[in-house]
Parts: sequence; structure tokens; C-alpha cells
Amino acid sequence: MRIKHLLVLGALFAISCAAPVDNDIDLRVEELLQQMTLEEKIGQMNQVSGGLQFKDEIAKSNVGSILNVVDPVEINAVQRVAVEESRLGIPILVSRDVIHGFRTIFPIPIGLASTFNTDIVEQGARIAAIEATASGVRWTFSPMLDIARDPRWGRVAEGSGEDPYLDSQMGVAMVKGYQGEDLSDPTCMAACIKHFVGYGAAEGGRDYNTTMISERALRNVYFPAFKACVEAGALTLMTSFNDVDGLPSTGNDWLLRDILREEWGFDGMVVTDWNSSGEMVAHGFAEDLKDATRISINAGVDMDMMSFGYLQYVKALVEEGKLSEATIDNAVRNILRLKFRLGLFENPYVDESLARQVAYAPEHLAAAKQAAVESAILIQNNNNVLPLKDVKTILVTGPLADAPYEQLGTWAFDGEAEHTVTPLTALRKQYDVIYEPALDYSRDCDMSKFGAAFEAAKRAEAVVVFVGEEAILSGEAHSLSQLNLQGAQSELIAKMRSTGKPVVVVVIAGRPMTIERDLENCDAMLYSFHPGTMGGEALADLISGRAVPSGKLPMTFLRDAGQAPFYYNHPMTGRPNNGTETLLNDIPVRAGQTSLGCTSYYLDTGYGPLFPFGYGLSYTTFEYSNVTIDKVEYAEGETIVVEYDLKNSGEYDATEVAQLYVRDLVGSVVRPVKELKRFERVTLKAGESKHCRFELPVADLAYWNRDMEYVVEAGKFQLWVAGDSASGSALDFVVK
Ligand code: NOJ
Repeated sequence: MRIKHLLVLGALFAISCAAPVDNDIDLRVEELLQQMTLEEKIGQMNQVSGGLQFKDEIAKSNVGSILNVVDPVEINAVQRVAVEESRLGIPILVSRDVIHGFRTIFPIPIGLASTFNTDIVEQGARIAAIEATASGVRWTFSPMLDIARDPRWGRVAEGSGEDPYLDSQMGVAMVKGYQGEDLSDPTCMAACIKHFVGYGAAEGGRDYNTTMISERALRNVYFPAFKACVEAGALTLMTSFNDVDGLPSTGNDWLLRDILREEWGFDGMVVTDWNSSGEMVAHGFAEDLKDATRISINAGVDMDMMSFGYLQYVKALVEEGKLSEATIDNAVRNILRLKFRLGLFENPYVDESLARQVAYAPEHLAAAKQAAVESAILIQNNNNVLPLKDVKTILVTGPLADAPYEQLGTWAFDGEAEHTVTPLTALRKQYDVIYEPALDYSRDCDMSKFGAAFEAAKRAEAVVVFVGEEAILSGEAHSLSQLNLQGAQSELIAKMRSTGKPVVVVVIAGRPMTIERDLENCDAMLYSFHPGTMGGEALADLISGRAVPSGKLPMTFLRDAGQAPFYYNHPMTGRPNNGTETLLNDIPVRAGQTSLGCTSYYLDTGYGPLFPFGYGLSYTTFEYSNVTIDKVEYAEGETIVVEYDLKNSGEYDATEVAQLYVRDLVGSVVRPVKELKRFERVTLKAGESKHCRFELPVADLAYWNRDMEYVVEAGKFQLWVAGDSASGSALDFVVK
């Protein structure tokens, strides 16, 4: 009989991990609330896009928050109206999508996740906060925590990929970075964890699409990062556009009240996504905007972003008894508490000269460069073509070699292309560069300039081709059904191959693309998710060997878009592939029908992905050995101590991301084939070895089981330590 160790974490967490009750703030909130009219309360719940054009509404106390204004002069003017002209002088909460940097743009979030480095991610978020708050922005709509397992979905760019543990680690790092140590410090920017929930599971990868996620999958896969960030003190949360099993998140009281508030003890503020309250009408879930307003407030949404339904209908809904004033009071409490926590009442204004002083500070640029270095993934390096040492003259070609705007990626509203260092600029400092772009932009199909590039290659010792996606091709509402390089980029790579020169391809993109055919036409490939302001310097250093790649894939790379969704930690099927695949052309004509011996794979692409989650090469080689665990049997409350030796057996000082995976062999429901439980960046000099260790509490093996209890189920487990999710040898252990 299986023994369950029920961890009553839900209840405990609600008591112990709620943000500390700040009596002083709570008293001030109550005092203010008592003075407010219903209209003033409703005004606090209203967020609009714009600044001074809403001057009159702000003066009339009809606005609680604004978004999309970043000019400190205008922000101060807006605050002056709120503080000096509105009856109660409540400051405005100024928000912005500061997603991967404000002025200094870091790699897009999927690139940040590729670093597997929470320190650099936290540092990036801190820098973003310093730069954005200097303009008066005190609330960012980040981090995006949506688990994304389908690279057709354009918003994979904005998150940390397919794994709940990596997602949680990256999300918490960002929350810490944005919010800093002291919430009332003027450089603290409230984080907004989004989109709650399941948005990344959009069917077919088509943005805004419906999702069908079981409660168990929500709890095991989609909730963990949100819960971890709530525990880390995230101040706000945004609902998602999608429905889960028929319930749009903005109208889902189970999500927003039962889970978020009661189970997790969240005492922050909940905002809709842009008009996601109003969009419940289009969903066919609300009759009209008034109905949608009633539904979202009753579900637990405090602030309305841009549907204007709250402003128009809340008063009538209260008078008609469809909304209680107590519900409104609670929403307003959450909003006012946030404003007090941020110290906005004490410090509503900014020093208008500060923003330009702090933007692009040398230490910000250095951190952005380091993040870009660590985020690039070496996909292929035949015959150690990279780094390009002892090479003087290179041909630089391709549409992304000198595209300052494009390399910033999606959601970089405030990054300025003129501050961007492109690969071309940076490579010119290290090589004699011949530059022939050959294509003007990533979708360009005009091959008429290929000849010039081909001729130029004759004068070079190596060719570096920069291909990928323009920034606008990923992000919100930019889903794709095909993931091949667009335009004539693959043809350009093939053309360069025909020169006979060593060919290095650098992909700069917003998502995992299907690059199998391109790998055949090059010696080496570096994959850089849009790397930001300092991307060019980072890539140039990686190409020349001044830096060594250490990034790892935060998403499985597919052979073909038709394999999506494909993720390493999928539940095991009853017919797992056993390594034997009869492929399309192996099937005889008029073959007889049988399903005997059949396993789960595609006839055309086979079973495996192109590259597994966690994959990434280095200029050196790493050897794992002596992987041991301290016992073979563990009890509840114990910690599994995993030790291993890691040797840098190559010629470059480098960093490896060691990864610890676990499999629960038999569960009360089907379990994932592997789950990432820990990772560590280990830096070793050439030839150096290190004895390393992971500690994994048995409690971390818990999951939401058949009875929807969060438990560690006794039984057999396996564990791997390796450089990616497909390597290593399993060690067995038992939990009693
Ligand atoms: C819509 C997006 O879904 C969300 O992520 C973003 O924060 C808001 N718009 C505000 O721009």
C-alpha cells in the first residue's frame, strides 16, 4: 500500500507567508477609505492609458492609475493634479511594461531564462527598476510567468519557457530585483505577476486562444511560479485574456479568491489585462460591459485596465444591489495599500533630471552585456570552428548583423536603437570586417544581392551570417504556424556554405525556430534570443573567444512546428518510444494495418526533438563523474544529498549549468518523465575539477496527486545530474 505524506502546506502557507501585516499602513488605509465617496473609490479602481489628456478626470478623482507615460515632466504634472487638485490628494500609480529593461535593454525574458542565472536576472530587474523609477514609473507588468510549450505562440519571448521550476526561479529573481529591499524606497517598482493563468497553453499556439487545463495540471505546472512569486512578496497580479475550461480568468472567482487570496494568502492588488473585463462580452461570458464589470469585481479583480466599465457601471451596480459596497471597499483597500507600501503619499514626485542621469550607466551596460553573453546558446560547433581565433578577415552578412532596433526584441518600448551596439559594430573592433548584408530584413525574399556576398566571401577567412526574426515577429499577437527562418535567410546560409569557407550562423530571434536544415549548411551556430542593447558586444566576444558560451535551452527545440507542443517533462504515455521508429519511407506500399508494437512518435520527424531542454554546448568539454546520492532510501523530512564531480576537460575556462532531474516512477496519476529540481552554474578553469553537491529535500518531490492533495507519494524514484535533460545515467532511490 502506498503511504502518503500529506504536507498541509496550503494552510500553513496562508498563515506564515502572507506579507507582514503593516498596522500603520492598514490604519492609514482605513482612515482614508472612510473619507472616500463611492465615486472616489470607483475612481481608484480605474486605470487609463495616457497622462495629461486625463487631467480633468484625474482632478475629479476618476483615475487611480495610468499606464504608458514615461516622461518624468508629464508624470510629475499628473501627480500634481492628483495630489493638489483632487479632493483627497491620492497620488497616481504610474505603470509601464518594463519587461526586460527600461532604457538599457537586457535579453528578452526567454533569453534571460537561458542563462539559468538568477543573480544576473535579479540584477537586470534591479537596473530596470532604477532606470524606470527615475522617470516616475513605480509599477511594471512583469514578470510574465506563463509556462509556454508551443513556440508558435509569439509570447514565448516574454516568459521563461516550458519548465515550472526554472519559471519559478526566474520569476522570483525578477520580483526581488524590481521590488528591491524596501518597498518605500523610490527605486522600488512593484512587480506584476502575469497572466493568471494558463495563457501560454493557448490551443495551437494561437494568441488569446482557449485553453483546457485540468485543476491538477494548473496546480502542478501553471501555478507554481505564481505561488513562488506570491511567497516572494510580489505586490500585484494580472489576470489573463484566455479562458480555462470555459471560465475567462478575469471572471474566475475560484482562481482569484479561493486560490490566490485564501490558499496563498495574497494581499496585493489584482488588475485586469487590457480590457480583459470588457472582452468577457466577446467571450460570450457576459451580456454587456456592465455585466462584465459585475462579474470581474465579484470574481476578485480590483483594478480595471482600459475597459472603462468600472467607471461607468459600478455605481449603478452597487445601487442595484448587484455589487456590495463591502466588495468595492476591499478592492480599494488593496489599491491604497499598494500606494502606501510604495511610499507614494510621501514621495509622489521625481527629480526630473534623474532619468537621463541613470539611463545607460556604465554598470547597467556591463550587466546587460554579461546577461547577453550568458544567454547565448552554442547549438553546434563542428570541428571547433568557433571561436574564430587566428582569423583576421571575416565576412559579416545577414539581415540581423546591423539591426539595432530588431535586436532589442519585443516589449522594448523605451529602449533606444541609437544606444544599441550591433554585432557589426562590435566585430569591427576585433576583426577586419567585410560587410555585405545580402538581405535587408528577416522576411526579405530578394536574393539579388547574394552574388555580392558570395564574391566578398572569397576575400574572407570565415563567414558569419546573422539571421533570425525582426522584433515585431514575436510577442503579443504574433503567433506563427511555421517556424522556419523567414524570407530567403536559409537560402543565404546555403549560399554561404557553397563558398567553402567556414560558416558561422548566429540566430537572433524571439522564439525557438526550426533550424535543422540550416545546421546542415553551417559549421557552427550560436542561438541568441533577442539580446538587447549590448547584444552585439556580447556576440562579438563569443565569436572571438573572449567569452565562452554557457547558455542552455529553456525550451525544447523542434525539428518541425508540427511537433508542437513538445516539452521534456511530459507525462509518460502507455506506449513510450523505445528507440525504434519506422519512418515514412520505411513503410512498404500497401502495408497491412497493425498497431502491434507501435509507439508514440511521428512518421516524418520521429520521436525526439532537435535539441532537448537544458541543452547547450561550450568551447570546452565538461565531464560528469561519480554522481552519488547519500542513501538509497529516504523518509519524509529528510534531504537527499547528491554529489558529483565536474571536470572541465577542454582548453577554455568556462561555466557549465549542471542540472538535477528527478522522476517519480509510479504515481497515483501519470507523472512527468523527468522534472528539473535544481540547477547550478559551475565555473571551472581549463583542466580544473570540482566536487559539487545538490541538496534536495524530500518535500520537494511533492505534487498534487489523484486526491488533489499536495503529497510526496512513497515509492521508487530516479535522479540524474547532467548538462541537459536528455543526458546522464539514472540513480535509483526510494521514498518510504
Ligand atoms: C496586454 C498584455 O497582454 C499585457 O501583458 C500587458 O502588460 C498589457 N497589455 C499592458 O500593456
